[in-house]
Amino acid sequence: MCTSRAAVLLFSLLVSSAISALVSAQKSTTTPWRTLSGNPPLVIARGGFSGIFPDSSSAAYSLALMTSVPDVVLWCDVQLTKDGAGICAPDVKLENSTSIASLFKDMGKTYSVNGVPTQGWFSIDFTLNDLANLCTVIQGVYSRTSKFDGNLFPIFTVQDVVSQLKPRPRALWLNIQHDMFFTQHNLSMRSFVISTSRSVVIDYISSPEVGFLRSIAGRVSPTRTKLIFRFMGQDDIEPSIKQTYGSLLKNLTFIKTFASGILVPKVYIWPVDVNNYLQAHTSLVSDAHKAGLTVFAADFVNDVPLSYNYSFDPVAETLSYIDNDAFSVDGVLSDFPITPSAAIDCFAYPSKNSSGQAMPLVISLNGASGDYPGCTDLAYSQAISDGADIIDCPVQMSKDRIPFCLSSINLIGSSNVATTQFRDRMTTAPEIQSGPGIFSFSLNSSEIQQLRPVIASPFSQYKIFRNPANRNVGNFLSLSSFLTLAKNSSSISGVLINIENAAYLAKDQSLSITDAVLDALSKAGFNNQTGKKVMIKSTNSSVLMKIKENANYELVYEVDENIRDATNATVLDIKDFADSVVVKKTSVFPTNEAFLTGVTDVVTKLHAFKLPVYVQTFSNEFVSQAWDFFSDATVEVNSFVMGGEIDGVITDFPKTSASYKRNKCLALGSKIPAYMSPVQAGSLLEVIPRPVLPPAQAPYPVLTESDVAEPPLPAVQKALAPTATDGSTAEAPSQGKSGQPKLPAGILLSSVVMLLVTLFLL
Ligand SMILES: *[C@@H]1O[C@H](CO)[C@@H](O)[C@H](O)[C@H]1NC(C)=O
Ligand SMILES: *[C@@H]1O[C@H](CO)[C@@H](O)[C@H](O)[C@H]1NC(C)=O
Ligand SMILES: *[C@@H]1O[C@H](CO)[C@@H](O)[C@H](O)[C@H]1NC(C)=O
Ligand SMILES: *[C@@H]1O[C@H](CO)[C@@H](O)[C@H](O)[C@H]1NC(C)=O
Ligand SMILES: *[C@@H]1O[C@H](CO)[C@@H](O)[C@H](O)[C@H]1NC(C)=O
Ligand SMILES: *[C@@H]1O[C@H](CO)[C@@H](O)[C@H](O)[C@H]1NC(C)=O
Ligand SMILES: *[C@@H]1O[C@H](CO)[C@@H](O)[C@H](O)[C@H]1NC(C)=O
Ligand SMILES: *[C@@H]1O[C@H](CO)[C@@H](O)[C@H](O)[C@H]1NC(C)=O
Ligand SMILES: *[C@@H]1O[C@H](CO)[C@@H](O)[C@H](O)[C@H]1NC(C)=O
Ligand SMILES: *[C@@H]1O[C@H](CO)[C@@H](O)[C@H](O)[C@H]1NC(C)=O
Repeated sequence: MCTSRAAVLLFSLLVSSAISALVSAQKSTTTPWRTLSGNPPLVIARGGFSGIFPDSSSAAYSLALMTSVPDVVLWCDVQLTKDGAGICAPDVKLENSTSIASLFKDMGKTYSVNGVPTQGWFSIDFTLNDLANLCTVIQGVYSRTSKFDGNLFPIFTVQDVVSQLKPRPRALWLNIQHDMFFTQHNLSMRSFVISTSRSVVIDYISSPEVGFLRSIAGRVSPTRTKLIFRFMGQDDIEPSIKQTYGSLLKNLTFIKTFASGILVPKVYIWPVDVNNYLQAHTSLVSDAHKAGLTVFAADFVNDVPLSYNYSFDPVAETLSYIDNDAFSVDGVLSDFPITPSAAIDCFAYPSKNSSGQAMPLVISLNGASGDYPGCTDLAYSQAISDGADIIDCPVQMSKDRIPFCLSSINLIGSSNVATTQFRDRMTTAPEIQSGPGIFSFSLNSSEIQQLRPVIASPFSQYKIFRNPANRNVGNFLSLSSFLTLAKNSSSISGVLINIENAAYLAKDQSLSITDAVLDALSKAGFNNQTGKKVMIKSTNSSVLMKIKENANYELVYEVDENIRDATNATVLDIKDFADSVVVKKTSVFPTNEAFLTGVTDVVTKLHAFKLPVYVQTFSNEFVSQAWDFFSDATVEVNSFVMGGEIDGVITDFPKTSASYKRNKCLALGSKIPAYMSPVQAGSLLEVIPRPVLPPAQAPYPVLTESDVAEPPLPAVQKALAPTATDGSTAEAPSQGKSGQPKLPAGILLSSVVMLLVTLFLL
């Protein structure tokens, strides 16, 4: 079929250009690595890209090859069938990762595995024909999407991994987790491995069983195949010589007698305490290197909460293992190999000079509110040291007319007000929100200073909480203290002041928030002397109009609903009162059940009228990201910048975006490697079989002139006169409609689709 030929051709072109880019990227690395060999650490893809596709599936292995460094090592957990064939499956029990339990309902057994009676479906009860021809692999990690299972990916044999994939993998790692179990069932891993090594280059063989590694040590070529001893939990007992792994760790010279390296859980190197804080690193890597052993670290997974010290950024986690003052591990075992690929090739040992690219403009959200309570002195100093370009202050007014920085006009949520004596200041203001609240204008400034800040918890429904050690630290700042801090910082280029509820405050509270802001800016010298940019943001055009009459700042219009486009007349109206626009992530890449559905026309349209586009909110917690971004905040930012062509990000973790801007790979221009290329919005959705596709959603509306037109701000009322209104500024729901027209936005995943298409046509 000519379409499939074209797809194969295009696919190989894409891959080969990616590979040549990689090779040149790696040559430019001059910094010596602290690995045993001095070479960059290896990326080992556990079951392929098992973080998104079923473990050991053709799709998982293909995606790993396409999105990783070119010498990525494909990892296969070998299990033996009744007839002695070796298949790849992540566990000795097959039911979680394959369809076996539904096909062979009565074939579950109970066997002793390392002395523990274990119930399940075991490969020893099935022939290769049963497994390879009848069973398919499925997603075995229940927090990951099972939408791809219906693709009926066959179970791969070890031979399949080397023969079925394009491009051919450069390196293969076989993990033999249970030699003794198979021996008890008269199946020989040793024979399997030795005979396989005659037809296939096996680069690495790992096992947690000393006996197994010693049994093959003389039988495979040590230059061709490296034997790696795998450590399990420190208190677990090694089954062949019956010592704990913890005690074997003290006997590295013994390990060296039969292995050239070790594979350890990552916590052996950077332990975490019971509260998930990182402790000082151990001396394991240096000790093992002294003993002549390479060290590989396991358990790199993006979709679990990382130690708080990494601020939920998986690139930061990998970097701590490969780029520190003391050591570098020789490789990392990951379910998301794109992350260590980028960390190793693009982020490690940044060159001192690289000032980075200009895009995106990094604007904080309530300071570094991912790490500290929002809008506190600590959140702002962190944002500054993290490398934010712009720090932000959402201004609220106190009863005594002092403008403050606070994430919301309702103090509940951002402070402990509900537990203080001020809890009786609860009032209702239907123009602001439907339920009651304790509003900033009900407390005077000295009362607000008595409140303790509270760290935000936007993902508590997923049981993901931000750093509890910082839960109540810091102090709130008045706008004038915020401006003093900003003026005194040489690294930031400006401030963003957010103004909401201006009409309500003028009419119902006799407060002019716009005058208060203009006054504070002028007193701080921001109108002319600081050399720093001032951006004023609002969702209400009347606020921007009012500022425009009085000062010459960058006016930023925030579109708070999901849109797919804007009419030309509307954009012309926006240009009347704004210099740039803020939209939600979903107005650029709409989603359906957390899969990107495509690209809207929003950025293109606003750019056609020369309006820069800033996008919110970029958070590091993986639950905030679409599946397409592989639970890696850097992949998301990169895709919005390179694929979505946005001009700036608004983020509660400015460090991640600032460090993204400095990564070395961005300088490679058209030779950018695959792991620093944008994902193609909508292509992952195409890999989902039709019966389980999420139902298409109605597209988002087009922004029209009536959406942006507002009456002018009312005059400030002298007396407080409560008025009934039904207005509400509640946030539009972030999830919702989609089904946008699709535009090419990158290369990376388009090649997966083509690859899968070709696999199915074979
Ligand atoms: C299979 O899934 C069950 C249910 O979540 C889990 O308890 C079990 O540990 C899993 N088994 C394996 C071998 O992963
Ligand atoms: C393994 O082989 C031995 C000797 O041939 C036999 O006695 C034993 O029953 C076999 N065990 C299993 C589990 O098949
Ligand atoms: C290391 O392990 C070997 C084999 O178990 C043992 O003979 C030797 O005594 C151990 N050495 C130390 C220092 O524990
Ligand atoms: C991790 O964070 C905790 C709490 O802030 C701190 O005490 C600890 O020193 C940090 N660990 C490392 C290795 O920096
Ligand atoms: C770094 O900057 C210095 C001074 O501008 C320059 O001499 C040097 O060549 C630069 N090095 C690199 C690697 O760009
Ligand atoms: C704030 O209110 C308190 C009463 O709660 C009062 O004692 C104090 O003087 C007021 N401070 C200011 C600055 O108005
Ligand atoms: C301004 O910054 C300097 C150091 O950069 C610091 O010493 C000084 O205290 C700061 N001033 C204020 C008012 O924060
Ligand atoms: C800065 O602005 C102030 C008040 O707006 C004005 O008095 C002053 O002359 C201005 N300074 C300069 C250098 O333009
Ligand atoms: C809207 O503006 C764009 C960019 O200037 C232009 O290409 C397009 O033709 C305009 N559409 C209409 C309907 O005027
Ligand atoms: C915007 O401000 C105007 C007053 O200028 C007010 O009448 C209108 O309700 C505000 N719009 C929203 C959505 O809050």
